[in-house]
Amino acid sequence: MANEFAIGFDNLEQETIDQELHVDSGHLPPWLRGSLIRTGPTLFRLAQQSYQHWFDGLAMLQKFAFDDGKARYTGRFLRSPDYVKSSRTGLVSSDEFVSVPSRGPLERLFTLVDPERQFGRNGMVNVLKLNDSCYIAMTENPLAVQFNPADAATVGAFDYPDDLHSVLNMITTAHPRYDVARKSIYNFVSRLIPLRPRYVVYRLDNGSTRRTVVGEIETDALAYMHSFGMSENYIVLAEFPLVTHPTSLFFMPLFGTPYIKSYTWKAQRGTRFRVMDKRDGKLVGTWEHDALFAFHHVHAQEVGDELFVDLSVYEGGPAVIDQFYLARLRAAGGGEISYSGLRRYRLPLRGGSLRGGSLRGDSVREERLAEPMLEMPQFNYRRCSNGSYRYIYGVSFTAPGKFVDQLVKIDLQKNENRFWHEDGCYPGEPVFVPRTAGTAAGDAGAEDDGVNISVVLDTRRRRSFLLLLDASTFEEMARLDLPHAIPFMLHGQFYAGVL
Ligand code: CO
Repeated sequence: MANEFAIGFDNLEQETIDQELHVDSGHLPPWLRGSLIRTGPTLFRLAQQSYQHWFDGLAMLQKFAFDDGKARYTGRFLRSPDYVKSSRTGLVSSDEFVSVPSRGPLERLFTLVDPERQFGRNGMVNVLKLNDSCYIAMTENPLAVQFNPADAATVGAFDYPDDLHSVLNMITTAHPRYDVARKSIYNFVSRLIPLRPRYVVYRLDNGSTRRTVVGEIETDALAYMHSFGMSENYIVLAEFPLVTHPTSLFFMPLFGTPYIKSYTWKAQRGTRFRVMDKRDGKLVGTWEHDALFAFHHVHAQEVGDELFVDLSVYEGGPAVIDQFYLARLRAAGGGEISYSGLRRYRLPLRGGSLRGGSLRGDSVREERLAEPMLEMPQFNYRRCSNGSYRYIYGVSFTAPGKFVDQLVKIDLQKNENRFWHEDGCYPGEPVFVPRTAGTAAGDAGAEDDGVNISVVLDTRRRRSFLLLLDASTFEEMARLDLPHAIPFMLHGQFYAGVL
């Protein structure tokens, strides 16, 4: 028997094209004009083979367009090469996070010598606007899929037209960060050179699709990093001790090793905070701390002589990765996930001989910023990304042992939390949209003047609804019925003015 929210890990095979949504209760704010576009896995079972992990399934784009107090919904499969091939054969076609195609001995050898065969192109983690005419869906390799935000239809494969496009640079994050002041998008790739692995930080300037290298950070082992932090002047990579080596990655297809299984937890390495100056691409320093694991950097900011690095840290370390196997998520009593909480790591930036060097021991101070379990963190990015922030929103659980069953708003200044919870309901990432979205008044108004939009799975009715919370009070503002259950998605972005 499965648990009640297992329907959130079932196939969604139904596409929906531009359907007007009924406002069940409340009202949509009249100023809300634009689209929330989300991506995530919605096909977990193929005709001949099933995916094994939540981060494996074939992507669908979900678009919620708001205008004039009304909302319209479109859900369309991302017609990626993986989708096209897998829906034709009914088989896993490329290496995903865990699932791998069953390859015969010859095919394994072919894949070894032609690594392009190995990597999937299935943008199920996040979406990104590169410029007005280029929106892409991303995963944790740079092979992206372009889509049209007007109708969520797939345009085709997208590769960055630059020198970084190489099989040596096949690991990245689906969490690029936008520098509001510089109008540049930052991200990094892990470079798989066996003798000198490194992280290559790049930026995309002002709507360009070509990546410019900012700088490189050498390492002895590549860490699994789902995201990174960025302050006004610095990029911070938290090298968790879940590490691999380029050689292991190269030999994966030979042994049929799942991607994430090529990483090993080496707690004794501890965590290494690697800080790069965005202005000259130089390594400012490396700060070491105890072993920890997180998917999401929440925020980073420069305060006096310190860099504050805020993470949503898992108490059980990388065990959470195993908790997201589909069999476990669906099983009766399953869906238990580790606690993750908001932690701040204070790195002393100014320190004489530190440049290029490394500081050990107690130089990093850790603070517990808030108690509630927190994942899928959100804040008023446009206003606060280059400075301090007060409010964080995210998904949470009501008690240890539960799957995420509530939303939380954390007030760092008052040290208090507000929650939204309803029995039998499982909410997704509460995307924050400021009232000033789409206007020139970037810093006007209160930091929490806006709405949070979340897709909530209602297991009592076996379907999902769209929930809008007033971000200030965290009270329900509107609820809109969706035509079916939507599986648990990953990330989405709000694009003002896109209808
Ligand atoms: Co993420």
